[in-house]
Order: sequence, then C-alpha cells, then structure tokens
Amino acid sequence: MAMFINHKRIERNVTLMAVLILITVAIGGLVEIVPLYVVDTTIERVEGVRPYSPLEQRGRDIYIREGCYVCHSQQIRPFRDEVERYGHYSLAAESMYDHPFQWGSKRTGPDLARVGGKFSNEWHVAHFLNPREIVPESIMPGYAFLADRKLETEDIVARLETLIAVGVPYDEAMVENAYADLLAQANPDADHSGLLERYPNAMVGDFDGNPRELTELDAMIAYMQILGRMVDFADIDAGDVVQQ
Ligand code: HEC
Repeated sequence: MAMFINHKRIERNVTLMAVLILITVAIGGLVEIVPLYVVDTTIERVEGVRPYSPLEQRGRDIYIREGCYVCHSQQIRPFRDEVERYGHYSLAAESMYDHPFQWGSKRTGPDLARVGGKFSNEWHVAHFLNPREIVPESIMPGYAFLADRKLETEDIVARLETLIAVGVPYDEAMVENAYADLLAQANPDADHSGLLERYPNAMVGDFDGNPRELTELDAMIAYMQILGRMVDFADIDAGDVVQQ
C-alpha cells in the first residue's frame, strides 16, 4: 500500500517525475554505452586474420579504384543458400582491417569474399583480359589494361603508414620490409620465408604470367587469391546457419 501512496506523490509532481525519469533513462543509457568505451574492440578475434601483404593491399587499392564493388559484394550472409554457394558466412573479424570495407550492396556478379584459391592464376588472367573468353554470357567488362600498367610501388611505405594511422597493426618489420615483400611476392625465385612469416597464407608466384614486369594485374590477382583464405574454417563451428 505504501508503495502506491509514494507513487501518487511522483505522479502529481511533474518535476520529481521528470528527474526520476531522467535517472532511469540515464542508467539504461550508461549500461549500453559504457562497455563500448571499456572494451578494446567489439569484434571477436579470429585466428588467422592479418593485415594484407603489401602486394595484396595494392591489389585492393586497384579493386577500389576500378569500382569492382559496384558489381561484386564481399559478404556472405548466414543463410543456407549463400553458405552452400559461397562457403562459410563472413565473420566480422575477416574485414576488421579493411579500410574502407568492401561488403558492397550489389551482386551483378558473384560474391567474392571467398574467391581466393577457387581459380588458378591463369584462369584469372584469362578472365580479366576478356571475361567472355571464360564465361561466354558474362557482362563483366574486360580489364586487359591492368596487364599493361606498371604497378606503382614507391609509395608503399606511406600507404602502410596511413593504414597504421587508422588502426591496422602493421609492425616495424612489416613497414621496414614493405618494398622487399611487395617485390618478393610476385617473384617465384625470391626467398619467401620472411614474407610468409609476416603474412601467412599469402600466395606467391608470378601472378600475371609476365615475369619481366610487376603490373597492376599481379597485384589484383594476389588480392583475389587471399580473399577468404586467412581463416581456417576447419577449426570453426560451421553451425548456426539461419534456415530460410
Ligand atoms: C558490370 C559488372 C561487373 C564489374 C564492374 C566487375 N565484374 Fe566481376 N563479374 C561480373 C559478372 C556478371 C561475373 C560472372 C560472370 C563471369 O565470371 O564473368 C563476374 C565474375 C567475376 C569473378 C569470378 C567469380 C566467380 O566466383 O566465378 C571475379 C574474380 C571477378 N568478377 C572480379 C572482378 C574484379 C576484380 C572487378 C574489378 C576490376 C570486377 N570483377 C568488375 C560483373 C562485374
């Protein structure tokens, strides 16, 4: 009974009611906001996720420059049909070092989040030169010019430093070796031990079939070949796919 009498007092006093509402809402707000300041990241860490190698990162820059995201997404949703077509649904951690992310919202072509290792380098070369050579009904434009354009490499350190500024954890050795790693990844005869220690699972070799020159096509294919290959999904529970 006493509670109701107290409540009557609150309801009859607008100021008191406003103050009490404010306190209630503030507690609710703090419960939601404070943890975000206290935790380091809201993304669950997943083993294997690493920054892109310098060559992969350059390929990614070209992917963005050419607007590939206009036709391709890089995000597999947790639905049965997507998982069966593309593989394990995308994890937040897989794009945690992507600046800007390339999730995309349009799929004129297939999702590319796990295209790494799906095709050989030769397949990619032929497909980029003329998609209709491989898929006769394809409406993807050709990107033959990438094979003729020398890859710009001088600014690689500045590029990594920019990514460091937005939180990508390139360490000192990665920055120091950036230029050497960039060249080594596309050179089948180079010593790859340092590169692979810094960037596990990176694919190495002559990507574009032209060993004399480092081209934008080398970088683009190196990027295609790492997509979806950083995390070993044999270790991760393949469950909780949403039934449609
Ligand atoms: C106008 C839309 C369009 C643009 C722009 C486009 N693509 Fe495509 N892409 C497609 C279509 C459609 C397909 C499926 C047919 C084919 O394989 O050619 C495709 C297929 C692909 C595939 C094969 C995927 C698979 O799993 O079969 C890759 C890799 C690819 N595109 C990469 C790229 C890259 C990289 C760029 C930017 C340089 C790009 N695409 C730009 C439409 C596009």
